[in-house]
Amino acid sequence: MEKKYIIAGNWKMNKTHLDAKEFIKDIIPQVNKARSTVYIAVPFTALQTAVEAAKDTNIVIGAQNMHDEENGAFTGEISSSQLKCLDVKFVILGHSERRHIFKEDNAFINRKVIRALKDGLKPILCIGETKEEREKKLTHQILDTQFSEGIKNISNEEAANLTIAYEPVWAIGTGISATSEIAENTHTYIRKLIIKYFDNKIANSMHILYGGSVKPDNVEELMQQENIDGVLVGGAALKVESFAQIVNKA
Ligand code: 13P
Repeated sequence: MEKKYIIAGNWKMNKTHLDAKEFIKDIIPQVNKARSTVYIAVPFTALQTAVEAAKDTNIVIGAQNMHDEENGAFTGEISSSQLKCLDVKFVILGHSERRHIFKEDNAFINRKVIRALKDGLKPILCIGETKEEREKKLTHQILDTQFSEGIKNISNEEAANLTIAYEPVWAIGTGISATSEIAENTHTYIRKLIIKYFDNKIANSMHILYGGSVKPDNVEELMQQENIDGVLVGGAALKVESFAQIVNKA
């Protein structure tokens, strides 16, 4: 069976629940014939509204983060069961903004991935190198560490519900996307990592999304690459018009 692409939007800390309702209502008729699966990761405060607005459509709603503990004294945090109870389907984990601004390390991200998988949420594990790391030719080493430590103690069976997003930090929000060649080369390397730590079958079925300045005018070329199974879109996912274009071009 051919793999269905995933086109995911990440709204980051943008939009109220009222904006979310409006956005989803407006985009539904524009993406209802999409060949890809459409994901939108909204802020916590917009989850309930977004899930209701997207009910019985092809749009899947997810969160942008969660804590690994089931419950307890973690002021300001959100658990997987709280997300599940809202019918949230996926969660972005280890986004570079969480790693760099909020200092989340691989061990913490790994605990979150384990928790999400155990509780039936599909994690999108983000990995990616900084500009300095790429210039120092450390990209493969960084990706190997972030990947292998992020998926520690995850069984092959659980890995069936895991998605990887390659998001080079230097391409996020900069307007400078990785070229399709750089993205494809790096995705090919990530595919090899999946074989190394899981197996061939899982490597073939696992989605590897590309993220970093994806726009309507570069999505087609990126999506033509053999190892790019979808995209994770920030800025261009905030407008109905540009996100719908990306979905329909992919
Ligand atoms: P931009 O598309 O704004 O570069 O953001 C990418 C991203 O971080 C998605 O998670």
